[in-house]
Amino acid sequence: MTGLQPSTKYYYVYGSDADGYAQEAFFTTAPAFGDQSLVKSQKDGSNEPGADEKPSVAITSSIAAEVANGYTMNVHNGDLAYADGFLADWDNYYEQISLFTRFLPFMTVPGNHERDTLNSGDAFTFPGANDARGECGIVYSRRQSMPQQPGQTKSVMVSAGSWGLRLYYSFNYGPIHFLQYDSESPYGPGTVQRQWIENDLKSVDRSKTPWLLVGVHRMFYCDSSDYRSNDDGDQTVAARMRASLEDLFNEYKIDAMFFGHQHAYARTCPTYKNQCKPSKGEESTGTLNILNGNTTAVYYEPSAPIYFLIGNAGRAVGTADFLEDPQPAIFPNYNLKYGYMRLRANATHLITEAVQSPAGYIMDAVTIVKNNETAPAPPTKHDLVQGALSNLTRDALTQPLQLPGALNDLTSAIKG
Ligand SMILES: [Fe+2]
Repeated sequence: MTGLQPSTKYYYVYGSDADGYAQEAFFTTAPAFGDQSLVKSQKDGSNEPGADEKPSVAITSSIAAEVANGYTMNVHNGDLAYADGFLADWDNYYEQISLFTRFLPFMTVPGNHERDTLNSGDAFTFPGANDARGECGIVYSRRQSMPQQPGQTKSVMVSAGSWGLRLYYSFNYGPIHFLQYDSESPYGPGTVQRQWIENDLKSVDRSKTPWLLVGVHRMFYCDSSDYRSNDDGDQTVAARMRASLEDLFNEYKIDAMFFGHQHAYARTCPTYKNQCKPSKGEESTGTLNILNGNTTAVYYEPSAPIYFLIGNAGRAVGTADFLEDPQPAIFPNYNLKYGYMRLRANATHLITEAVQSPAGYIMDAVTIVKNNETAPAPPTKHDLVQGALSNLTRDALTQPLQLPGALNDLTSAIKG
């Protein structure tokens, strides 16, 4: 489709006189390059249905409902249908998500359940690494045609003598440059993907796209007790990715990274080398913990990226067994509730909201401010008490009340 105008809503139907036509739908085109007015997108991870499909279906409905709120794109960071070689699951999944894909571009990267098959050029070569049960990423790549630069092919030598798929890409959307890389294909030194990532980071014009966001399937930082070595243990893979890419991402000052894989929601402080790093003019970031994992935080020109795990969008959320004990200090918010993320940005502010589904309340809100916006005064005692009270009321309406925690938060807000 060519000749489309930026930031324009197009209505469409498809079909034929012989077979009939689909119900009318619409989509909104991306803003023009350099347009830094407000954009809205949703991000969710691991939105695959499991044995109990209710959470996945509920989140699909919630995302579709966000179309009416002006959200114009959905980004999903892998493990989509969880078909694992049973191809009818792909059809079921696409039927389900058509609730929102009729209206939103659906931007994805492959997860292990789309890609990982022995001897197919992926990054996992230990015996038994076969999470996609022979799909090899082929089914995914045929269904999810993502942007490619002219002359690029999907089949590529991923490292010396090894052939695989090029499923990484980048694109600009309003004030955001999205870099979507593939954790299932080699990304270490000397690989073509590593070189592509570096070239793409170099090419970003931050005066046009001040926000640089990275998406990938596997966790870059994780709160997990899975330290298995020599395979795809959560902590092993995360450490491997950080060793290969963390310095590069910090050199080019990415703002945030989003990933799925682990079925939970988690968010770090601005983090580098496993340590919280300060924000401009404010060593303490103003994080306010209210009730069972409800958090709001504002970071002014943070000196390191913030990492978001948003794998809570469908497959059964994990249990506390997956959490490290004690929990790492870099995670101000970690919870095991279903949901998805809303993301909004303009030239100076990027806001993420982790939304619980189906209740709809916000579990964690993060604002990143840049471009010399000055920090407002810190919240007053009155603000803190009001916030604690309003959340107490809100949570009492939407979920079983955690009374001791609620009262503790309110008490500490009152004490100041
Ligand atoms: Fe996964």
